[in-house]
Amino acid sequence: MNFFTQKYNEYQKAFVRALSEHCAQMDFRPAVLTESMRYSLLLGGKRVRPVLFLSTLDAYKQDYRAELTLAVAIESVHTYSLIHDDLPAIDNDDFRRGQASSHKAFGEANAILAGDALLSYAFDLLLSVCGRGEKYLAAARELSQAAGAEGMISGQSADLLYTGKTGGREELKYIYRNKTGKLIAAPVVMGTILAEKDVAPMRAFGDSLGTLFQLTDDILDVKGEKKAMGKTLGKDEEEDKLTCVKVFGMERSERLADEYAEKCHSYLNEVKEADTAFLTGLIDMVRNRNH
Ligand code: IPE
Ligand code: IPE
Ligand code: MG
Ligand code: MG
Ligand code: MG
Repeated sequence: MNFFTQKYNEYQKAFVRALSEHCAQMDFRPAVLTESMRYSLLLGGKRVRPVLFLSTLDAYKQDYRAELTLAVAIESVHTYSLIHDDLPAIDNDDFRRGQASSHKAFGEANAILAGDALLSYAFDLLLSVCGRGEKYLAAARELSQAAGAEGMISGQSADLLYTGKTGGREELKYIYRNKTGKLIAAPVVMGTILAEKDVAPMRAFGDSLGTLFQLTDDILDVKGEKKAMGKTLGKDEEEDKLTCVKVFGMERSERLADEYAEKCHSYLNEVKEADTAFLTGLIDMVRNRNH
């Protein structure tokens, strides 16, 4: 196993252990609430956002195992965003992470509530560590801004606005930066804040990585394999979403993804005082992923 895969597994394993412990302690009532929260959290997924957070801390030689609560908060926000993204009123997707999406498994109303509960749960976790000091407050604020009306929700709103409509590069950039980019950049920035290092170059890296992530998501919606992806493909064209493939065509989208991967590498090169070997590998993983 190469260095990158070994490290990815190490971060993922530490994260999943913490997540499982949190899930085991959930005792929300009625039972369906706990069940639906656990179902989506434990379904799987790549865990890219917690891995980004833990690996950024590690890059700055911080003890990442001491910050797993924040990693759970990050994944909780992301999981809620997926549950709501799949709802009939939004993308109407029946599969997620290789299984029935929340509204298929628990019904639409329960899926809405599972999402609401996961978002509130994340804020409870964030507040539980804020007593550790000012920088934890700053990290919590980073996640709340990335999740909300200045971030992911703004992107989702723009995504809906441009569904079935024409738009160009600028509109697409806005959607990417917000619906996906902010929640990819946030973990990197949060790790940098906790390490008390310069945030600007890491934010620039995280923003570009977020755009790269959605470029490859849109490309894989056309070219991917259902089994590996764990979700229904071809949905973007069916719903007439504003994607890179719609705006630029497949060939130019692939080239754009290469350009963004290059951009990520050069921003990462500007980051000082960090061992960026793993994050370098992560750029290539996001560019070349099949799931
Ligand atoms: C899917 O995110 C939603 C997007 C922002 C494109 P991921 O591709 O990280 O999904 P999981 O967490 O691995 O299931
Ligand atoms: C997802 O974008 C963005 C979110 C905020 C969840 P997509 O709608 O393209 O993600 P998938 O393809 O359903 O995972
Ligand atoms: Mg969507
Ligand atoms: Mg979707
Ligand atoms: Mg997609």
